[in-house]
Amino acid sequence: MTEKIFIFDTTLRDGEQSPGASMNLQEKFRLAQQLVKLKVDVIEAGFPVASVGDFECVKNIADNVRGVQVAGLARCSQKDIDTAWEALKGAESPRIHTFLATSDIHLQHKLRMSREQMLERATAMVKHAAGYTSNVEFSAEDASRSDLDFVCLVFEAVIAAGATVLNFPDTTGYALPDEFGEKIRYLIERVPNIHKAVLSVHCHNDLGLAVANSLAAVNNGARQVECTLNGLGERAGNTALEELVMAVRTRGDRIACHTEVATEHIHASSRLVSTITGMPVQPNKAIVGANAFAHESGIHQDGVLKERTTYEIMNPADIGLTTGNLVLGKHSGRHALKSRIQTMGYTLTDEEIDRVFVRFKELADLKKEMFDEDLEAIVMDEVLRIPETYELVSLGVMSGSRTLPTAAVSLNIRGERAEGAALGVGPIDACFRTIANLTGTASKLLYFGVSSISGGTDAQGEVMVRIEEDGKVVVGQGADPDIITAAAKAYLNSLNRLVYLRKEAVTRG
Ligand code: KIV
Ligand code: ZN
Repeated sequence: MTEKIFIFDTTLRDGEQSPGASMNLQEKFRLAQQLVKLKVDVIEAGFPVASVGDFECVKNIADNVRGVQVAGLARCSQKDIDTAWEALKGAESPRIHTFLATSDIHLQHKLRMSREQMLERATAMVKHAAGYTSNVEFSAEDASRSDLDFVCLVFEAVIAAGATVLNFPDTTGYALPDEFGEKIRYLIERVPNIHKAVLSVHCHNDLGLAVANSLAAVNNGARQVECTLNGLGERAGNTALEELVMAVRTRGDRIACHTEVATEHIHASSRLVSTITGMPVQPNKAIVGANAFAHESGIHQDGVLKERTTYEIMNPADIGLTTGNLVLGKHSGRHALKSRIQTMGYTLTDEEIDRVFVRFKELADLKKEMFDEDLEAIVMDEVLRIPETYELVSLGVMSGSRTLPTAAVSLNIRGERAEGAALGVGPIDACFRTIANLTGTASKLLYFGVSSISGGTDAQGEVMVRIEEDGKVVVGQGADPDIITAAAKAYLNSLNRLVYLRKEAVTRG
């Protein structure tokens, strides 16, 4: 049996640091449940001291999610560590993850600390954290640009103080793979008590090398990799979980390790993250991009039809990809639908299945052929549903080459009917103006994207929007065979999220 690489998922913490990728409590909980299904080893649920909202999200996951270690981030300060523990203590297996920079650049300019002070603070704070739990991770922020002998000294001291996981981050994404691998080997050779801890890496993708650096680290002895779904994270993001895991699985001939990730849930997990964050996955993204398993050239198509392995190094089914599968028809029952949804990798409550079933029947009446992607769009819509302050009752649009685009919209707002109409530059503009008038929103549209789910002119359109109001950025998503209706649904979904976010903030005080 090969050695195991522990997968530490930080989508909920570093991933959420992607600009505009914030998630609410309910969404974070849903994603944490999906990560358990994916069988990651550790979920970094957030940075508890950062805000009341972050604290509650970590506590909610720690108290209610089982079958996984739950980590919370803390700077090397007593208050951070105490707050992290307060949030984490209900977890089955809590981990305090504390960090302090070791590079001279950070010490001189950011922390204004000497190396001696840094060493003293890190050791004292790890000792403090170890008073709460034996599961303590220490990260040497900006380690890859630090004096390596100093990092060795720090690692030796914090292991003696009780750290059980030592993380060597490439915080700025500066390292090159051969160099990064050598640094990991050096640590293993020079830190005398390193065998008492798991050596971890956390790579950023500024030069597009996060996965390559993580793999080089693994081949030189690192046994935990920190990563995020879809490679989300600060700036250019972090090591993409799906890429790292599939590289390890596919290239067992060169990487003598394994992960315990249930790869068949990768596609559903990636889709969930992009829907929740409103950050679409680029089509040519490795493993989870829409084109990752698409063969355009005739020669390639011919090859794959004759023998899949001519052009495919992975089986799409291994990541749970069922694209192009015709699913159930309009006569299918609820039971068949539920089982299909489960096969696709989603876990829904009975009430959610009921709602999906109603939407599925409505769509099946309109559309001759229903694909997995159609079903997935409905699942995303229903699963991520939040209380609807603004509900679409009806929408009528007039547009064409010689017509002034006009929209008439009827909404249900807190039980009251509201109706209005407006002109616009195009039908979507007219529709959004009418909705803005009816809801009184002053939000700014930051992003509008439309894509087709499955093929054909009868395909559903999926719209994603991102809006901003009073410094709060939210996303919205809607799917419908009529793309103007899909856009209206997406816009209303984002406005409902704004209302929800404000209510959440008030409840938290
Ligand atoms: O990039 C980084 O160094 C981090 C640490 C907090 C681990 O995110
Ligand atoms: Zn980071």
